[in-house]
Parts: sequence; C-alpha cells; structure tokens
Amino acid sequence: MGEVYLFAPGNSEKKIHKALNLHTDAVIIDLEDSVTSNEKEMARNLVYSLLKTDVTFRSKIYVRINSIKTQWFFEDLNMVNELKRVDGIMIPKSEDKTSISLAAELLNKNVEIIPLIESAAGVMNIRTILSSDQAVDRVAFGSVDFALDIGVDWSVEGTERAYAMSKLVLASRAAGVNPPIDAVFPIIDDRESFIKDTQKGKQTGFNGKMVIHPKQIDWVKEVYTPSKKQLEWSRKVIDVFESSAHSGAIDLEGKLIDRPVYLLAKRLIKSS
Ligand code: COA
Ligand code: MG
Repeated sequence: MGEVYLFAPGNSEKKIHKALNLHTDAVIIDLEDSVTSNEKEMARNLVYSLLKTDVTFRSKIYVRINSIKTQWFFEDLNMVNELKRVDGIMIPKSEDKTSISLAAELLNKNVEIIPLIESAAGVMNIRTILSSDQAVDRVAFGSVDFALDIGVDWSVEGTERAYAMSKLVLASRAAGVNPPIDAVFPIIDDRESFIKDTQKGKQTGFNGKMVIHPKQIDWVKEVYTPSKKQLEWSRKVIDVFESSAHSGAIDLEGKLIDRPVYLLAKRLIKSS
C-alpha cells in the first residue's frame, strides 16, 4: 500500500547507486527529461553497464525511456532488451496505444509497462491506453508536463490537475487495473506542502507516489500508513458491528456504522 517510486537520473552513477541502496519500493532510472540531449547516449550506456548483470536489490527497477516522438525511443528499448535485471519500463508522454503496443512487441522480456500520462490527450485517451496491452497494470501521472500541455502554470494546490487525476482513478478502477501512481512534487524542501499534495492524491484514489529526492520517501510512507487513531477507531467499528445482534445500522459515538463502514474498517486494518 502506498508504494514509493524514486527517480534517479540516468546520467548519474552516484545517484543510481545511492537509490539502489535506499528503502524504496521501486527505483525509476530516468533516460528522459533529467538527461540532456548530448548525454542521452552516455546515460543509456551507463544504465546498460549497471544492469547488464543481476543486481541485488529487493525492490523493483524500472527504466523511463524516451518518448516515441524522439529519436531515442528504439535505442532505449534495444538497451532494455539487453538488461539482465529490469522489472519494467515507463513510457513518458503516453497519449494513445501506439507507443505501448510497439514497445510490448519489441520487448524480448515479460516486463511491466507503465504509461506516464502527462497531457490532455493522454487523459482523454486513458481507456484505450489502459487496454492497450496486458503489460499495463497501472498508469502514472505527470503533473508538471500536464500543466505545460494545457497552458497553465503548475500550482502547489493542484486545481488545474484535479479533474485529470480523478479521471485516471475512475478509468483505472473501471478497467480493473491497479490505481494510478501519483506525480512527483517538484519542490524538494517544503515538507508541509508535499504532505498535503500526497494526501490529496491518496484521497483522490491514487496509490503511491513518485519522488525525486531520498528525503521524500518517508513522507509518502507517512501519508499512506494508517494512523494509530484510525486503527483504534477501525478496531472499535469492527468489534461493535460483529457483536451486534442485527447487521443493519448502529450508532457509535454519534457516527453511523453500517456494512460499508464496517468493510472500510476491515480494509484499513488489513492494509496496516
Ligand atoms: N536518487 C538518489 N540519490 C539522490 C537523489 C535521487 N533522486 N537525489 C539526491 N540524491 C542524493 C545526493 O546525491 C546526495 O548524496 P550524498 O549525500 O551521498 O552526496 C544526497 O542525496 C543529498 O542530495 P542533495 O544535495 O539534497 O540534492 P542534489 O543537489 O544532489 O540533487 C536533484 C538534487 C533534484 C538534482 C536530485 O534530487 C535529482 O537528481 N532528482 C531526480 C531527478 C529526476 O530523476 N527527475 C526525473 C523525474 S521528474
Ligand atoms: Mg515529464
């Protein structure tokens, strides 16, 4: 529950090594926007040299390749095919099924494909994207590129992305895949705003978040881990509901307890 995906720039051996030694659920090694055009080849070679043999890392390793609209898409995919250890790829600027179907066809291994949705077209085509290939189990959201695409500034509060985020959640649920992964929060030093942003994503229906800095890892966990108060309340709800003679509605400390409330409490305990 609430998995953390840490980005490490593909041109930095130091950061990749560091990321692979941290307690995170996944590391996404980036060949896209954190690598400049003249370093693309160097970064690709670096990722190849680091992952061509098996690495001991308990968590998942993904590579974010360059989008199909760039000259690097195919070479990135070829490199991924040469890797010994990789759990999946992330395809940025996913807008339809073309790049996903093509990647699935060209990949020589059974790895997950995470489409990164970061444009109006991507959001509006989400159902097609979700059903494009069985390698797609979830999508991720990119909020800064999304703001750029729709012609507004990125905001801390996220007014501009609220509808898009809800749409990704509902489409994922309706398609029977996992909830989407929340976008990175590009301000590194503002813990309070980061926590608020993560809570908003969680309450919208996202599960987990991408981060850009090691210190943000624990902040995501903090939001996704149920609090002591929530756990105590949920245990009380379960007790009262299960020991009640009838299974209709019960009043507990001024709150309505009925079957869906009971099921929510059971789910919260299970996730802890
Ligand atoms: N992965 C692994 N290690 C990281 C890291 C990351 N994403 N971000 C920072 N670190 C390391 C630094 O190397 C440094 O290590 P050290 O103490 O051993 O020297 C330590 O954490 C503290 O880093 P800090 O000095 O606070 O940050 P920085 O100036 O080195 O890096 C960024 C800041 C933004 C450049 C860096 O966090 C980064 O590259 N993030 C990922 C960017 C990315 O991949 N973007 C694409 C997706 S949006
Ligand atoms: Mg982007």
